[in-house]
Amino acid sequence: MVTLSIIKADTGGFVGHSAVHPDMLAAGQDALSSAVADGLLLDGKVGHCGDDLSLIMTHEHGADAEEVHSFAWDVFLRTTEIAKGLGLYGAGQDLLSDAFSGNLRGMGPGYAELEFTERPSEPVVCFLADKTEPGAWNLPLYKMFADPFNTAGLVIDAKMHAGFRFEVYDLYEEKRIWFDCPRELYEMLMFIGAPARYVIHSVESKTLHEQAVATSTQRLSLIAGKYVGKDDPVMIVRCQSGLPALGEVLEPFSFAYTAGGCMRGSHHAPMMPVSVNDAHPARFDGPPRVVALGFQVHQGKLIGPRDLFDDPSFDRARAQTNEVMDYLRRHGPFEPHRLPLEDLEYTTMADLEKLLADRWQSMPEAAVPAPR
Ligand code: F6R
Ligand code: MG
Ligand code: MG
Repeated sequence: MVTLSIIKADTGGFVGHSAVHPDMLAAGQDALSSAVADGLLLDGKVGHCGDDLSLIMTHEHGADAEEVHSFAWDVFLRTTEIAKGLGLYGAGQDLLSDAFSGNLRGMGPGYAELEFTERPSEPVVCFLADKTEPGAWNLPLYKMFADPFNTAGLVIDAKMHAGFRFEVYDLYEEKRIWFDCPRELYEMLMFIGAPARYVIHSVESKTLHEQAVATSTQRLSLIAGKYVGKDDPVMIVRCQSGLPALGEVLEPFSFAYTAGGCMRGSHHAPMMPVSVNDAHPARFDGPPRVVALGFQVHQGKLIGPRDLFDDPSFDRARAQTNEVMDYLRRHGPFEPHRLPLEDLEYTTMADLEKLLADRWQSMPEAAVPAPR
């Protein structure tokens, strides 16, 4: 069995919250290469999207392994030092705890981990997003694994026809449920259509009994009780041979669907699929970006990446993103551009409620028509 882990954190932005400094990327790659040389990892590649640095790793320690998580924690401490040395913005932003204890749960960094027996050929896509929330994967995952208008294989590939099982987390109540699709499609949509609360965590094939997807689901605001940076999720999707083909996995991103995030983590904005070179959200701290790094996993090695959205066939989606962004921006501080009050990452509402408490008055009585 091999485990593919993406562990990511924002340990400092260059400039503002828009990108990771090249020195931090170099330090991350050096640390990964040493960990491969030392035998901790089978392979390791650094990735980035916006101000988030991702460690993409293969190893044989399983998910939630202390040695892998503590390695990632140490790398993030090192990149934080580099960020501090250069005066970068928000150095150490996602490191919420002073000391590592066991694994990264609740400590700030996000992670998606998937354990599998390597198939004769194992194509995977690592998706990295910035300026958005974990539920941003719900719509594309639904399309990949449950929508025959997206995924032809659901109709015409005998290995996919039985459908997929989706594991959904309730982030507010910290519970989870499995939905068996297509039988329970409508039930599932009731939940995952509310992505600020319900988030797809994994997907497995009913025919192959293989896990095909792992997403990161941590929500920093709920962990920390206050805003410390947006969640900026990552996701692993295995492709082909009874799972969605590479092109079916990428197809949902040809539509500029909106997700929560963008400026101050408090706005709906369209997801822009971009090449690694364009993964630097700047306009209104957005629009949220997603990159897709394709690898062939071979004997535990990561052959790649291929920068899959570096492709003119996503130009229309990018143009649509800019149009939708222009349209939403004109709402300024009004919903649906601004998130509903309960989902805002920044708010002045609690202070305003106190300040204005004694200025609110009852509404005037409705005029009562005089009796005839
Ligand atoms: C959103 C994000 C940014 C910041 C914004 C304000 O996820 O990271 O939009 O929220 O730039 O940042 P501060 O409060 O650090 O000035
Ligand atoms: Mg940041
Ligand atoms: Mg970020």
